[in-house]
Order: sequence, then C-alpha cells, then structure tokens
Amino acid sequence: MKLFLQEVSLGLSKKNKKLNSKWFYDFYGSKIFEQITNLEEYYLTRTERKILQDNKIEIANKIGTNAVIIEPGAGDIKKIGIFLDNLDKPKKYIPLDISDNYITKIAKGFKKKFPNVAITPKGYDFSKNNKLPFKINSSENIIIFFPGSTIGNFEKNDAVKFLKMLKSKFKAKKIIIGADLVKDIPTLISAYDDKKGVTAKFNKNILRRINIELGGDINLNFYKHLAVYNKPKKRIEMRLKSKRNNNIRINGSKYFIKKNEEIHTENSHKYTIRSFKNLANEAGWKINKTWTDDKKLFSVHCLDLAL
Ligand code: TRP
Repeated sequence: MKLFLQEVSLGLSKKNKKLNSKWFYDFYGSKIFEQITNLEEYYLTRTERKILQDNKIEIANKIGTNAVIIEPGAGDIKKIGIFLDNLDKPKKYIPLDISDNYITKIAKGFKKKFPNVAITPKGYDFSKNNKLPFKINSSENIIIFFPGSTIGNFEKNDAVKFLKMLKSKFKAKKIIIGADLVKDIPTLISAYDDKKGVTAKFNKNILRRINIELGGDINLNFYKHLAVYNKPKKRIEMRLKSKRNNNIRINGSKYFIKKNEEIHTENSHKYTIRSFKNLANEAGWKINKTWTDDKKLFSVHCLDLAL
C-alpha cells in the first residue's frame, strides 16, 4: 500500500486526528508555500534572507573551502544564492526535496544563474530512513544548509534525532541552520493565518491531495484553517476544523468527522537562543556563531561538531 494512504488512514482513525505536514509539499503545494514566503505577514523568510545577506562574508568564511553543500527540504532554493558567490571554490550543491518534480524544475533556473557551480538536485524524503540518493565521501567538507523554519516542524525528540542523523548519515562537519524565535503571539498567529488566505489554501492542500491521489471525496469547503499558539509548548499548531458532521470515503474506507472536530496538520516550534543551544548540544553539536536581526525575530546558527 502507498505510504501516503497508510499514513492518512492511520491519522484519521485516531481519536485526535492528525496528518503529517510533509504531505503538503507536492508540486502545487510547494508553489503555494513559495507564495507564503512572499506574504507581508510571513516575516520569517525576508528576515532570514536579510540575516544571510548582512553576514554573507562571515558565513562564507565559516563554510570554508571546497564545500559540498547539502540542503534537505530545499524548496525554492532561493537562499543559497545569497552567499554562493562569496564561497571559496564550492565543490557541489545538492538540494534535496520531497517533491522530485518541483526540485528538478527549480534547479534548472539555478543552473542558468550559477553555471559554474555543480548542482545535483534529488527527490528525497528525509523523514524516512532511506538510503541517500548520492554518495558521501566523509573526507569532504560537508556542510548542511537547513534554512527556513523546518527544524521547528519537528517535535523536540525528532529534532534531536534529525540533527544526530546529519552527523551519522550525511557526515556533516558543520550546519548552517535557521530557527524562528519566540515572540509576541499576534505576530506569530498572523504569520500562519494571513489575510489573503494563502496559508489556508496551503493547509487544505493535504485534503486536496487525498482526493486526487487517494480517490477521496472530502469537501474542502467543510473545513476551516486554524492557527493556534500553544504557549507551554511554544509552538504554532495548524489545524483543519470541520464545520459540520461529515462522512468521508478514502479508498473504500469510511471515516466520520464530527462537527467542530479538528485534524492536526503541523507544528511550528519557536525557540529562544538558549533553547536552541540546548537542542543542538543534546544532539552533539555546539554553537559556533549565532546571527539575528535587530528585532530578534529570527536566528541563523553555525553549528560545529561537539567532539
Ligand atoms: N517551515 C514552515 C514554518 O513552520 C512551514 C509553514 C509555514 C507551514 N506556514 C505554514 C506549514 C502553514 C503548514 C501550514 O514556518
């Protein structure tokens, strides 16, 4: 059985229904996410871009010479271009994304813009324990570039596991990683619930995919996008709330969704500099340098192996 179907049937059979956010990102979903990164309310992307821009020389120095840069969950790969020209003889850039279609298409534009950097895009789902789609030579200067707020989409334990895996499997020597910071709640909520409804469309893309790819019959209009801040856990929770009782049928199985019932689709954890340091340390990394913006909205860190 398809993994997608397996996970959906499991997630919808639970008392507290949930769907894994990685399924947002097919070609269409990746396009909507690109739109989110340009929204006024979504301060994350532009703030991180500015941090990278303002510190590109120092970042390039940290990355060092002959780097093999791997970017898991690369998306539209717009951020690497900020400091690429400042790098000393970069050897290779390997963007990985769950949507093979999307990353292959996006990488074509990159080749035109940076004809001198070897780029080898690969479709890869890093949440599965799959073999890497390329060879690793552990003697190389392997740098993981993990911008955005993807680390925040993991539960704490999974974030630690992921950071450990970058060491054991990817043989990373350094990580350049973004982490969104704890801040006032209205700013956080509006970043995940924009006026134009782009985030709502993105959240519902998971239902759209169930209909298209798994033959589901979900009426998307029955669901409302919700972004809620869970204060004790310091995370935004994305949910789809059912406006009415409805039966859905997916691949021959039936599920009943009650009025006001919520399907949990995503968490986006917010860190402080200190809590992020603790996370890195727990996973066997130490902070070499932290960069932030003036308003302390977002942080970018350079992590070294803690030997
Ligand atoms: N990594 C992004 C974040 O946590 C993903 C994201 C942004 C997202 N907006 C979203 C995921 C809305 C689901 C729904 O900020």
